[in-house]
Order: sequence, then C-alpha cells, then structure tokens
Amino acid sequence: PTLMVPAAAPPPPASLVLTQDDLKKIAAYKAVEHVKSGMVLGLGTGSTAKHAVNRIAQLLNQGKLKDIVGIPTSSTTHEQAVNLGIPLSDLDSHPVIDLAIDGADEVDPELNLVKGRGGSLLREKMVESASKKFVVIVDESKLVNYVGGSKLAMPVEVIPFCWSHSLNRLVALFADSGCVGELRKCVTGEKAYVTDNGNYIIDLYFERDIGDLNEASDAILRLPGIVEHGMFIGLATSVIVAGVDGVTVKTK
Ligand code: 5RP
Repeated sequence: PTLMVPAAAPPPPASLVLTQDDLKKIAAYKAVEHVKSGMVLGLGTGSTAKHAVNRIAQLLNQGKLKDIVGIPTSSTTHEQAVNLGIPLSDLDSHPVIDLAIDGADEVDPELNLVKGRGGSLLREKMVESASKKFVVIVDESKLVNYVGGSKLAMPVEVIPFCWSHSLNRLVALFADSGCVGELRKCVTGEKAYVTDNGNYIIDLYFERDIGDLNEASDAILRLPGIVEHGMFIGLATSVIVAGVDGVTVKTK
C-alpha cells in the first residue's frame, strides 16, 4: 500500500530567502548610516566589512559623503579601497579615528569578540583600539555564550622563529580548557599562512570556557614570541546583528 505523507510546505520564493551574505550586507549598510562627512574611518577586513567599504565608496561617489579618510586594516582592504577611490591614510598621520566598522568571528554577551580568522587581527586591533567608536557588524551566526564558545579557531599572531615552541607554550597555558592548537596554512599547499606583518598564525581551539578573558590575554601576551591575539576585550562600542527576523543593535 502507498503511505500518504502530508505535503511539505512549499519553500518561500527565492527572492525572500536571505542568505548569510545578505545578512552581512544588511548589518554593514546599517553601520554606514553612522558615517558622516569629514570623518576618519577605520575600514575593517572580511566578507562583512567588504560590504561596508563598498557602501562608503558608493555614498562618496554619489556626493552624499565628503572628505572621508579611510584607515585600512589589511592589505586586502587597502587594495579594495584604492580600487573604489576612497582616500586613504594611516595611523601615523591620523592617530585618532572617529569610527571603525568591522566584522567579527564571535561576539559574546558582553560584546567581547574573537577576530582574526581572516588573518588581520593585529592591524584590526591597532586601528580599532585607536577609534572613538568601534561598530561591529555580524550576522546572527556569530553570537556565542562565551569567547571560544563556537569551538572554532581563536587566532594568535606569532613571530615565525620557533613557532612550534610558541604553539606548545600557548596550548600549555590553556590545558585546563582542553586546548589544542595548529599552525595556520595557506589554502593552497602546505606552506604556512603569512600575515600582512610577515608573521604566522596559531589557531587555538578550546573544549571548555577559558575563564577570565583579561587574565587569558595577559598570560598570552607575556609569552615571548607572541605578537597579538584575536580576543578583542571591551573594544566594541556597539554590535549590529542582522538576523532573519531583523536587525538588533547591542550596546554596552
Ligand atoms: C579578519 C576578521 C574578520 O572581521 C572576521 O574574520 C569576520 O570575517 P567575515 O566578515 O568574513 O565573517 O577578523 O581578520
């Protein structure tokens, strides 16, 4: 006999289905509403920040924004901004930034972040810690209960010299959290991924909560050979989260 199964609900029309990239773009466009003419802007890195940089260029070209100076957080963003005609400078010439807009890999309830899965954590932290306002743009998949809670990588930039020694010391610091680590490789081949600053990245993975973030940060930065880590503690002013049910803005 043929078993009758109720028909599944038809899928919504393709045009109404928001992709993750649509959500990133929605968050990015919302953040760019905070940009005013004359501002010095920190330009983030990654697939979400890329939408913000595109939008800023669009508004400049339409004459709706004027006299913007961008401070890029990576060579990739530098190249994107140059191609789009956004005037650029650096932290040496503009040590105080009005507003930085960037994505994140994880956002916890206190707005602490993990960044750097795109490899640009050092320049991002330099630019974003020099910003009067730092607006983070994410889709809802980036929300976690605690830093490390996604079980994905927490990146640490290290100098190439004896990187495996640095890896072992990092892992030992977080033994109680079930930490493992690995050297980040290029997508093609076995070569180590090299940052814009000529360094390597160690990706740390945690089984359990790493506890007090400031203590973890201090312990990491005390190790010789470590350049910077991807925990952005207390730096975000607000986080714009785009989800399928709409946009929410989290502030401290
Ligand atoms: C790059 C970063 C990115 O902001 C972070 O990885 C988020 O990227 P995406 O917007 O592509 O998800 O920290 O170093």
